[in-house]
Amino acid sequence: MDIEVVTLFPEMVEPAAGFGVTGRAIERGIWRLRCWNPRDHAPDAYRRVDDRPFGGGPGMVMLPEPLSACLGAMHARREADAGARAHVVHLSPRGAPITQRRVAELAALPALALLCSRYEGVDQRLLDAAVDEELSVGDFVVSGGELPALSLIDAVVRLLPGVMTDGASPQQDSFSDGLLEGPHYTRPETWGGTPVPAVLMSGHHAKIARWRREQALRTTAERRPELIEQARREHRLSAQDEALLRGMS
Ligand SMILES: C[S@@+](CC[C@H](N)C(=O)[O-])C[C@H]1O[C@@H](n2cnc3c(N)ncnc32)[C@H](O)[C@@H]1O
Repeated sequence: MDIEVVTLFPEMVEPAAGFGVTGRAIERGIWRLRCWNPRDHAPDAYRRVDDRPFGGGPGMVMLPEPLSACLGAMHARREADAGARAHVVHLSPRGAPITQRRVAELAALPALALLCSRYEGVDQRLLDAAVDEELSVGDFVVSGGELPALSLIDAVVRLLPGVMTDGASPQQDSFSDGLLEGPHYTRPETWGGTPVPAVLMSGHHAKIARWRREQALRTTAERRPELIEQARREHRLSAQDEALLRGMS
């Protein structure tokens, strides 16, 4: 997969993507990162990329021209290389909340372009003309799209075929089946006076699987009850799950 990132701070994105799972996947050629700086496409000598908002108000707004030229250069380069068109995502608190389901859909695309903005945001006309989708990392505001973009990159890359090779399975992570994951335990068998739940030491795989399912249901019901309702609506809960949930209330 190709991921193109449009950012005023490529030096923030490039090194961060090079660590851990995403870094190893770059080394193995599973995905490729390229950054594009709108400042390189600013029409004036000052390389200006922002201006005051019409109508007044605080802060600055990113100019449409440098972003349009920058995205145009990115698309043109991809076309020249016979690459697939990149799906353009603007990271924004006004976007739809990112879900694991949307991440899985994005991971199936050949190429993504992530537009990271700064200041108060981007001239709406550029968004209308050049962006396919706006996505948010949550109901809070950070100073720029780079950290949200890195979160999205990490979430997408770990779903690419061949990335999780150490036995860890993204299919077992929280949200993959609509529920949160239950707790994990490792050595020592007793720590701080608390032993590991006995079932995990039993070697009885069916019982362990049932315990894990129960813990996932319990954690989800306690912390995110709306996910239980959603799983119900999507017919993801078995009769046994429902019986376990009834036993918890
Ligand atoms: C200071 S924020 C602008 C916030 C904007 N004025 C608003 O109230 O919606 C600057 C940039 O950071 C990024 N950003 C901030 N919070 C985000 C979030 N929750 N999800 C994704 N991107 C975010 C966006 O690219 C945004 O344009």
